[in-house]
Amino acid sequence: MDHSRLIKAAHKAKKHSHSPYSRFRVGAALLADNGKIFTGCNIENSSFSLTICAERTALFKAVSEGLRKFKALAIASDVDSFVSPCGACRQVIMDLAGDIDIILTDSKGNSKIIKISALLPLPFDSSILSKL
Ligand code: THU
Repeated sequence: MDHSRLIKAAHKAKKHSHSPYSRFRVGAALLADNGKIFTGCNIENSSFSLTICAERTALFKAVSEGLRKFKALAIASDVDSFVSPCGACRQVIMDLAGDIDIILTDSKGNSKIIKISALLPLPFDSSILSKL
């Protein structure tokens, strides 16, 4: 699949970033299996730890609208190197979306596809909860 539409959507979503503290704008675009794209940006808080990343914003928006199956997630920022999802987002992506493609992009137009399983080996998942 050509991911250019998804990458474009991630860069567009970045424009809504609320990042007055870090000035680090991030946008994400999530492709659902029905073809719909859900976007998100990072939203910072004056109580810093309450900040939410772009990836989780996009995923939570999609899940809250009833979507449960996803194909790919693109991440965009303003820097000229790839931005990889943070540890918390890796866990949430794996948990809610499964082993989807993560499309890392840079500000120069380069992109790279990597599976979330490569970014989060040996994940904690719900199967272990039933072993109690
Ligand atoms: N951030 C994201 O939105 N996604 C990432 O993958 C890494 C970090 C945000 C959180 C915070 O608003 C800013 O980038 C700096 O850490």
